Amino acid sequence: MCGIVGYIGNQEAYPILIKGLHRLEYRGYDSAGIALINPSGDLNIYKTKGRVSDLEEFCDSKDISATIGIAHTRWATHGEPNNANAHPHYSETENLALIHNGIIENYAVLKEQLMQKGYHFLSNTDTEVLIQLIEYIQTLNHVDVCTALQLALGQVIGAYAIAVMEKGNPDQIIVARKSSPLVLGIGENEFFIASDASPIIEYTNKVIYLEDEEIAIVKRHEQPRIVTIGNVEKTREIIQLELSLSQLEKGGFPHFMLKEIFEQPHTLRDCMRGRVDVTCNNIVLSGILDHRERFLQAKRIIILACGTSWHAGLIGEYLIEEICRIPVEVEYSSEFRYRHPVIYPDDIIIAISQSGETADTLAAIELAKKEGAFVYGICNVVGSSIPRNTHSGSYTHVGPELGVASTKAFTAQLCVLTMMALCIAREKKVLPQSRILELLHELNLIPDKIEQILNANDSIQKLSNIFTYAHNFIYLGRGYNYPVALEGALKLKEISYIHAEGYPAAEMKHGPIALIDNEMPVVVIATDNDMYEKVISNIQEIKARNGRVIAIVSETDTVVKSIADYVIEVPATEDCFEPLLTTIPLQLLSYHIAVNKRRDVDMPRNLAKSVTVE
Ligand code: F6R
Repeated sequence: MCGIVGYIGNQEAYPILIKGLHRLEYRGYDSAGIALINPSGDLNIYKTKGRVSDLEEFCDSKDISATIGIAHTRWATHGEPNNANAHPHYSETENLALIHNGIIENYAVLKEQLMQKGYHFLSNTDTEVLIQLIEYIQTLNHVDVCTALQLALGQVIGAYAIAVMEKGNPDQIIVARKSSPLVLGIGENEFFIASDASPIIEYTNKVIYLEDEEIAIVKRHEQPRIVTIGNVEKTREIIQLELSLSQLEKGGFPHFMLKEIFEQPHTLRDCMRGRVDVTCNNIVLSGILDHRERFLQAKRIIILACGTSWHAGLIGEYLIEEICRIPVEVEYSSEFRYRHPVIYPDDIIIAISQSGETADTLAAIELAKKEGAFVYGICNVVGSSIPRNTHSGSYTHVGPELGVASTKAFTAQLCVLTMMALCIAREKKVLPQSRILELLHELNLIPDKIEQILNANDSIQKLSNIFTYAHNFIYLGRGYNYPVALEGALKLKEISYIHAEGYPAAEMKHGPIALIDNEMPVVVIATDNDMYEKVISNIQEIKARNGRVIAIVSETDTVVKSIADYVIEVPATEDCFEPLLTTIPLQLLSYHIAVNKRRDVDMPRNLAKSVTVE
């Protein structure tokens, strides 16, 4: 989704802005642009469809001298990806330039009004409407740009993170946010602006997160001044980030996605550190223990999420219902927020989000809070909007996930859900302590077992060669492995663009079985668990119709190995922890197929890492 970078200080702005745009590439985009104010006060905009490298080429012969600038990567919403729709946008007189992440919902009405007043539009974007509106208000009321911005933002409906610069004023950038992320980096006599901390961290670890409807006036040699749209002065705490630069690099791997798949033993250990203590037979999740009574009294848990995080939520449902005996519902945030859901004050909402910025999940949280429910966030990005807008929660602690397709964040979400289930079960005394300890000890072994699966990478790569040219895939699983089938299919379609569907294996005979023939690869998770015999029958049904079965099996398996066309082994574990293992070969299979097809694995077409519009 759109990325914003800004700089004001003593250094040349252009290289800092371009590097910042590269750091934000992982978010997904289709065009890029930059606005610079040169030492004579000229406000120049350069922008182009395509990659940041295309923008660099375009800027080769341009005036890029400036110590102040704003830059943007656009993920198209209103208007196709082309040069005109790329940001920044000028105002009518070309006195102002604006970059924007978000959506101005009432742009059509505002545009119509501005056109009647003689304003011209060069793009199809909602963003251009906002900068024209700011200039119109500025001219009409003879006010400075900050006041005009405040008045304009009072008129717009929607979400925004914006940065504005003014011709002839090389000492000021104004930024504002509502429902879209924006971070301010505080350096020595220099300031940075970005959608997230990744473009900032190599210069400073001191940041300020703006709250909704806040504006920061960032001036050279002055501390940023923060006011609300209604002009109330605010002070915001400067936060020290723990992010390191090496976490933003590939570390010898060809893609971030492969690096992140291989990081999982380590990230799960980080996720459990200080929480699971097998030497003391203890589990501590402060987010739960600090609100123990709420969890003890909860009659129902509702899990809200999107995409891969929603798949983690489905596994969470199985875990919490089995281990804690609390009823759980799992909903897509985007459906929940608009379907007039019944929410009780003693409901607990668990919102799961890697980025912590997903617009639908944020809106669903607001709705649940209004109804008095207690909201617990499971997020990865520290300081993002969801952790700041929930009553309690747990970070997944996997470091930045830069591959657009979520891998290490997913397994860590499962790990947090498991720790939550164990912690709640102990407090509720619904599971014998001996069983809790058994599960705790097994959970602690999961990272080692993942390491073992990763050793099969080469053979999974070989297997991927056989299926690179398939047009469709079906993924099947039962019980805990049904959501894993959904996740396996999502991973494949996201990065290889092969059509894939996941189903509960028993559902196959209610429709999808019609698709099975000798060209249809069917990935079946057939590990030795409570559902083993049932899954074997499902595999027989596929083989009877000449389907090609790739089975994920337990090391000790003999039966499935004798029927399936190809097998990938995983070590044995408790049924409820199987998704932590069975997911890994599916991540690797998708990765290798996508690489074979020469896809842009880390930045698949049309996708955004952080979905900040609904
Ligand atoms: C898939 C993927 C997406 C995200 C979804 C929610 O690989 O990454 O489906 O899971 O967009 O994002 P978060 O978790 O940031 O709320």
